[in-house]
Amino acid sequence: MIKKAIILAGGSGTRLRPLTDVVCKQLLPIYDKPMLHYPLATLMLLGIKDILIITTPKDLIAVKNNLGDGSQLGINLQYKTQDTPKGLPDAFIIGEQFIDNEPVCLILGDNILYWGQLNLLWAECLSVKTGAYIVGTHTKEPERFGIIECDKNNNVISVTEKPEYPQSNIAAIGLYFYDHQVTHFAKQLDPSSRGELEITDLNNIYLRKGELKAKFLSRGTTWLDAGTVNSLMDASNFFKIIEDRQGLKICCLEEVAYNMGYINRSQLIKLAKSFNGSSYGRYLEQRAKK
Ligand code: G1P
Repeated sequence: MIKKAIILAGGSGTRLRPLTDVVCKQLLPIYDKPMLHYPLATLMLLGIKDILIITTPKDLIAVKNNLGDGSQLGINLQYKTQDTPKGLPDAFIIGEQFIDNEPVCLILGDNILYWGQLNLLWAECLSVKTGAYIVGTHTKEPERFGIIECDKNNNVISVTEKPEYPQSNIAAIGLYFYDHQVTHFAKQLDPSSRGELEITDLNNIYLRKGELKAKFLSRGTTWLDAGTVNSLMDASNFFKIIEDRQGLKICCLEEVAYNMGYINRSQLIKLAKSFNGSSYGRYLEQRAKK
């Protein structure tokens, strides 16, 4: 079973300036919580508790201040920095020691998902022994992403980075599951024309070996983009609407930790108190009473 994951929260967030002059993209708010909480909650819901967060050197302190060593959530958080944006596979080189030749999951720090249900589909990805899984979903703008082409039986035929003439409308969302070979393969890659190691090149190594599989989000699961000010606002509105309607928070780390059994009721109550004076704290208090 995959027990470790890396969150890559690098990049300069150029398209979100001047917001990202003040705070890094992954700490910008998506409605009532920082963006980074969403991919972290996804990992926690997948049962992964050993997590390496990679940030830029300038953002490290802010991210660490927010999440600490994770013990308050019953998880283990470690940190490393990426000095320049060298691409997604660089995460496996930076994280070599952390990975320690074990299988690992990678999620991007701006990967915002609203899960219908995190069901058994994921058990297969998490139990990968040899090979890799990429996760895809339908997109209207295939030229913006890594695109996955599959045959009728969902076998991967090709993966192409931002194709001019897309072979399909299935985008790789930025969630990947790799076996123990990943660092070894990442080290074999050469930078692309944009000067970065490309995750698509890494996935093509697995594909050529016949070891790449794809999983697709169900129709009830939503993948949101927050790369521009408009999509950032849309994502906030999306979560506001659902949370207001249901009275339940989405990707609330403390609640996820409690529901997953990572922390007990008295730990949740203590966390609720630490948010004293906010509706977030009152929400946690209510959840502890359930
Ligand atoms: C990266 C990957 C791409 C993937 C996308 C998901 O793109 O290279 O394959 O579809 O993340 O967000 P980038 O954000 O580096 O352009």
